[in-house]
Amino acid sequence: MRVLFVCLGNICRSPTAEGVLRHQLKLAGLEDQVEVASAGTGDWHVGKPPDSRTRRAALARGYDLSAQRAQQVSAQDFSRYDLILAMDTSNLGHLKALQPSAGTAELDLFLRRYEGELDEVPDPYYGGEEGFEQVLDLIELACSKLVVELKGRL
Ligand code: 4NP
Repeated sequence: MRVLFVCLGNICRSPTAEGVLRHQLKLAGLEDQVEVASAGTGDWHVGKPPDSRTRRAALARGYDLSAQRAQQVSAQDFSRYDLILAMDTSNLGHLKALQPSAGTAELDLFLRRYEGELDEVPDPYYGGEEGFEQVLDLIELACSKLVVELKGRL
């Protein structure tokens, strides 16, 4: 199984989801069976590590995101990944426009799929520290539900 998380810049929300899912898969003993990656719909931050606020908030909960580098999502990703999960409806719209007809990946809105209180992971980039904590809270809960789904599909 291959899972790709997608947000706008690939420096806040989707790198957090990548780090949290990797951690949870390791705890579940599934790290060799699921490949996890993240990408942005935009290209502004390609090659850069996650935002320092994102890295700091994640590290405080035990997730080290320092090795990640931003990349832009591409049409080929629809044949490389089994599941592509968008952080908000704008990201989902961009992905739908990019999706080739021959693409095999399943595309969904991350939080809607896992029945959280919110449908979207709010963009924390222009806000305060609490936004980064909310991103982590939402992503940790949704990833725990994703791990249950992945266990059933493997
Ligand atoms: P992300 O957050 O999509 O969660 O990585 C953002 C990062 C950068 C920008 C916007 C959102 N930006 O405008 O540069």
